[in-house]
Amino acid sequence: MDIALAVIGGTGVYRLAALENVESRHFDTPYGAPSGPLRIGRLGEARVAFLARHGEGHALPPHRVNYRANLHALKQAGVRRVLALNTVGGITEAYGPRVLACPDQLIDYTWGRESSFWDGEGEALHVDFGHPYSPIFRHKVLAAARVTGARVVDGGCYGATQGPRLETNAEIARMRRDGCDLVGMTGMPEAGLARELGLDYACLAIVANWAAGCGDAAEITLAEVLENVAAASAGLPELVAELARG
Ligand code: HPA
Repeated sequence: MDIALAVIGGTGVYRLAALENVESRHFDTPYGAPSGPLRIGRLGEARVAFLARHGEGHALPPHRVNYRANLHALKQAGVRRVLALNTVGGITEAYGPRVLACPDQLIDYTWGRESSFWDGEGEALHVDFGHPYSPIFRHKVLAAARVTGARVVDGGCYGATQGPRLETNAEIARMRRDGCDLVGMTGMPEAGLARELGLDYACLAIVANWAAGCGDAAEITLAEVLENVAAASAGLPELVAELARG
């Protein structure tokens, strides 16, 4: 049976508890090892794969994740659709803590990451990336959210920063001027690599905190981040199951 959907979990989402009959598959890739095994199991009627982006013990910081190996492993497993869960900070008003959002744009501020499968040999991979998230798949995510009653903000611009430190107030002010609504450290190069592999890819951003200098942000603590991610993620199993069905 085909894998209907793969989910890449971010900070605070290290497993899909609702997966049943889970089989673990370890993949080797030309780019090295992925962050961990693919956990493949049943969710309702569908087969769903889960990968913890940072490793299941959160050993890998955002700039050390082997994004190429992760995407390549999913491709090897026969995955065609990827729902990326990304924990983020909120910049603009509609994106406060505990909001779920399905962005439609991104700006890449990362540097020094392996951001392409093209290593200079073979045909150049200048993939179209005007719409970085697959528009049809995004609409399926939003439709699944409507069916299950999860509130998901439609659209927004995700700014991908290098991390692992959080941003300065001035960096966030610049990102706001650039048009970013959300800030996270893992959105790129993942989305670009997915496009190079021809995968349908959408992001479900989980707002954990106000970004530096926004809202009532004081100091951003890991405890606050994890508490807000847990609260915002409550409806995710139903949403993912509905998405996998359709
Ligand atoms: N900035 C960048 N990444 C994040 C943040 C943030 O404020 N919160 C969670 N991930």
